[in-house]
Amino acid sequence: MSVVLLERPAEHVALIRINRPDARNALNMAVRKLLAQHLTDLGQDPATRVIIITGNEKAFAAGADIKEMADAGTIEMMQRGTHLLWRVIAACPKPVIAAVNGFALGGGCELAMTCDIIIAGENAKLGQPEVKIGILPGGGGTQRLPRAIGKYKAMKICLTGDLVAAKDAYDMGLVSEIAPDAEVEKRAIEMATQIASYAPLAVQQIKELVNAGQDASLDTALRLETKAMHILFSSQDQKEGMQAFIEKRKPEFQGR
Ligand code: CAA
Repeated sequence: MSVVLLERPAEHVALIRINRPDARNALNMAVRKLLAQHLTDLGQDPATRVIIITGNEKAFAAGADIKEMADAGTIEMMQRGTHLLWRVIAACPKPVIAAVNGFALGGGCELAMTCDIIIAGENAKLGQPEVKIGILPGGGGTQRLPRAIGKYKAMKICLTGDLVAAKDAYDMGLVSEIAPDAEVEKRAIEMATQIASYAPLAVQQIKELVNAGQDASLDTALRLETKAMHILFSSQDQKEGMQAFIEKRKPEFQGR
């Protein structure tokens, strides 16, 4: 069976399941390449509006595959190009929800942080323990974590390598929502279905603006927002959404 499975749990929703249970879903090159491939394909697939990434009940992903990189040297690490695969994953134009049960550590936590929404099971544990094995969070953790939760909490997580319980992660803003462990996937599908029922162009613009705006000045980001708002008035879905409101009916969004 493939180390990454693609499922279709609901209309317009795709679910990507990391499938290396014996290795706590550690991210080896095969998993990374398949994740990047699926996200590229789904990003271009008009039938897909929202994507979920998940693992199993024990692990979302326990990080980069330590066994695969233990003997690697600098050049080999460069040639693997995992940083390029991370960029492909993060560049997906459609909303991506991480449905996290069990461990989301190292590259697993970083994978969750490339997603747009994180739903965590109440017993999930997140963290950046790379410092304990002589490296650092190299999949975006030193940058995305402080942007998400602030310097001082991020510094503590990266420098101690201590794991963070889901409830604490929620309190510090690293998790969007907590669900009972057994309900995480169901909740993610429910939320994905809700988002998928909205106008795809509006949804994608919101994702792009929130992400791009974070690294721009407020003035520049607000200008981007205004332009995007005006652009949406060229879409059929804007007309449909507002007309449906006025006519007191459910809108039929087409992504045009
Ligand atoms: N890489 C490779 N194999 C891993 C792994 C990883 N990151 N995490 C777990 N495994 C393997 C274990 O070696 C073990 O394999 P064997 O059965 O062949 O011995 C199997 O998965 C089960 O693991 P455990 O017996 O350890 O399971 P546990 O439930 O007792 O503990 C755990 C789970 C806390 C996640 C523990 O496995 C662990 O600490 N894993 C490593 C976490 C880590 O350090 N992650 C960071 C990796 S570096 C990184 O991610 C770099 C980056 O940012 C780019």
